[in-house]
Amino acid sequence: MTSGNLPAVFSTFVGRRRDIAAIRSRLETARLVTLTGVGGVGKTRLALEAATSMRKGFPDGVWLVDLASVRDPAAVAGATTTALSVPDLGARPVSDRLADHLARRRTLIVLDNCEHLADACARLAHALLSAAPGLRVLATSRASLGITGESVFTVPPLSVPDEAVELLRDRAEAVRPSFRITDANRDVAMRLCERLDGLPLAIELAATRLRTLTVEQLGARLEDRFALLTGGSRTARPHQRTLRALIDWSHDLCSPGEQLLWRRLSVFAGGFDLEAAEEVCCGDGVPRSEILDLLDRLVTQSVVLTAENDSRPQYRMLETIREYGRGRLAESGEERRLLRRHRDFFRALAESSAAAWYGPGQEDGLARLRAHHGNLRVALE
Ligand SMILES: Nc1ncnc2c1ncn2[C@@H]1O[C@H](COP(=O)(O)OP(=O)(O)O)[C@@H](O)[C@H]1O
Ligand SMILES: [Mg+2]
Repeated sequence: MTSGNLPAVFSTFVGRRRDIAAIRSRLETARLVTLTGVGGVGKTRLALEAATSMRKGFPDGVWLVDLASVRDPAAVAGATTTALSVPDLGARPVSDRLADHLARRRTLIVLDNCEHLADACARLAHALLSAAPGLRVLATSRASLGITGESVFTVPPLSVPDEAVELLRDRAEAVRPSFRITDANRDVAMRLCERLDGLPLAIELAATRLRTLTVEQLGARLEDRFALLTGGSRTARPHQRTLRALIDWSHDLCSPGEQLLWRRLSVFAGGFDLEAAEEVCCGDGVPRSEILDLLDRLVTQSVVLTAENDSRPQYRMLETIREYGRGRLAESGEERRLLRRHRDFFRALAESSAAAWYGPGQEDGLARLRAHHGNLRVALE
């Protein structure tokens, strides 16, 4: 029996026990819980951890629907159907078929990244929840969906110092195995985490610098950076600005080639593989032979993440990082050209899969098409 499609996550999850308990208990009374908060505060990761911890209660599966690459509100139901592997049969509206499919099942759906599609998500959630008494929905969104019965849980930053320092330590150890928090650097590490408002994404980006810098050096650099931004005043910054500052800083520390690749990779939706990156992103300043090396360096800086997928190495970016790259791409004046190359690449991929449909390569082709679902949708648009 299928039990869902939650992705495997390889990095350590830190703290949040009380948040998970709170979400679980809310889902016992409310049937739709929305996790809200700024980008990078940890909504998606928390939703995945909470959902994983509830798997036993949902014999028909816990399913993740990532809506980041969906632009068209009319496509939300279709994306959900695809994620849940509901057979695509008949001429009835997709949402009706989904409702039928879920009606007698006990299922948890995680609707991730609803912010740009709040109305469509609200409508779909309402329709499905009315039709399926055994369904629960856990949504993540920068703002609430605004339907009756929704329980909104504002995701707090990690607690400082405990959880935040633990995350810093864990991620620093990953890039420098000898890294330790000691009596000598604990205070600096605490101050650093405070400076980063306990935002997990900001901490992860900063931690990658501990490969070569000491905590003291890193702290001093960030102090300078924030002083520059706030004209030296120490007034509290909104979390968006803290994170923006960290992403800007990470970007500034990238070589010109890495910056170029970062913004070009942002055309991909829902991940990419090496071949796609080479084909779509090479040229005009980046020879194809350098892409792998640049990609590796973006991985070590936590700009690009790796994910094992059907034994094919897949890369992806967190939505906040990808959006930042898209902004840079728009400024660079090469957005249209990149989008066209992206479209051409995935058109060719779809065509070659169609040609191999009845041949021995069918299984592979299908797996690859499935892995590139988000990209195919963007290419179509
Ligand atoms: N409690 C946590 N423990 C470990 N890593 C975390 C935790 N919360 C968030 N992260 C990491 O921080 C980054 C940003 O989190 P994410 O869930 O993508 O934020 P959001 O969905 O709010 O934009 C991700 O790399 C995520 O794995
Ligand atoms: Mg998210």
